[in-house]
Amino acid sequence: MLTDPSPAGAPTCPPSHDQLLEALRDVVDPELGEDIVTLGMVRAVACRDGAARAEIALTVAGCPLRTQLRADVTRRLAAVPGVESVEVTTGVMGTDERARLMSTARRAAQGRAVAASFPNSARVFAVVSGKGGVGKSSVTANLGIALARRGYAVGLLDADIWGFSIPRLLGVSGPLRVAAGKILPAEIAVGDHQLRVVSMGFLADENEAIMWRGLVLARAVQHFLEDVAWGPLDYLLVDMPPGTGDVQMALARMLPRAEFLVVTTPSAAAASVAGRAADMARKGHVRVAGVIENMAPYTTEYGRRHAIFGDGGGALLAAAIGVPLLGSLPLDPGFTAAGDAGAFTQLDATSPIAVGFAAIAERLVTRAAPLDMSGCTARLIDHVEEALARPAS
Ligand SMILES: Nc1ncnc2c1ncn2[C@@H]1O[C@H](COP(=O)(O)OP(=O)(O)OP(=O)(O)O)[C@@H](O)[C@H]1O
Ligand SMILES: [Mg+2]
Repeated sequence: MLTDPSPAGAPTCPPSHDQLLEALRDVVDPELGEDIVTLGMVRAVACRDGAARAEIALTVAGCPLRTQLRADVTRRLAAVPGVESVEVTTGVMGTDERARLMSTARRAAQGRAVAASFPNSARVFAVVSGKGGVGKSSVTANLGIALARRGYAVGLLDADIWGFSIPRLLGVSGPLRVAAGKILPAEIAVGDHQLRVVSMGFLADENEAIMWRGLVLARAVQHFLEDVAWGPLDYLLVDMPPGTGDVQMALARMLPRAEFLVVTTPSAAAASVAGRAADMARKGHVRVAGVIENMAPYTTEYGRRHAIFGDGGGALLAAAIGVPLLGSLPLDPGFTAAGDAGAFTQLDATSPIAVGFAAIAERLVTRAAPLDMSGCTARLIDHVEEALARPAS
């Protein structure tokens, strides 16, 4: 006869403690570039009768990342099969806990982010995809435009040195200008505001860039982070090379405090390939801020709906990796034409796709606004960097 191992015959809860912890390894503190389990921030996690509970220890009381961490923890736990509800409480680390966290963060900081020439408070979003041609560059350019329209200082870094397309899509060209030893970004007017753009396309022509290899790419991007007069940015959007190989991973780890925006087309197969970007995020300890579905079904003026590249893949992917679907952008021939003509800034603001970009920008601004990190972990990472700069005693 089988015996019930749970006390007093209580129903056992399917997800184990290890499964819950594993799910929390996907929650990354973007400041410290490590997951919250490794950082020792998970004090307790358990699930009983479908109700999961977690206690998270923050480095400082009132940390501005608290809401974001809480939302990430909730989403990741909710995505574990068998979890029906999630409750997250937060506490504050004691001196010993914080000392342990600092030594872990110190290790993570080694071989990581470069000394970027923009403020700590800027949110850095790397636009990634599992495969090429899904609209990453177009999404990056138009999100930049939508954020600039809202009055934010936005930088756009084209990190795709092999297949750079940002200059063409935005109708800007080189050469790269330099003043007082700093690279000056090209400035593109967006209404009363500006988008500041740097691309390898300002340095090389498209055929030359094909010859370049990973190491050159990493060095070029390092220059773009360190030696560009970005000014006081609120957001830096990075158009990443397609795919999820070593080069992309190395780049992602080099970007300070980067978070991924994963672009996918709506077919289930494409969403599954885009899932590799989430694996890359996990391996590189990068937070995934959300999924953007592109080339989604559109409705004609006669009310007919066409799903050329499938349907629903964005929502499927977002649910599978436990992040929000930030928006779904329809396939739009006018959009292709605007990109070909370098005229994205003149896109009709009332078109469904332009409305879609404005909605994603709104979500990014409300959920991932630039933060005043002066009282939070950003300060800790500064200390870590200072410590690393000191000669070993
Ligand atoms: N929603 C859309 N509707 C119509 N055309 C689109 C849409 N999104 C992107 N495109 C078009 O698809 C093509 C590929 O887009 P884009 O260059 O942005 O993709 P990508 O993912 O950056 O490609 P790569 O992997 O080569 O860098 C472009 O011609 C672009 O204009
Ligand atoms: Mg591209």
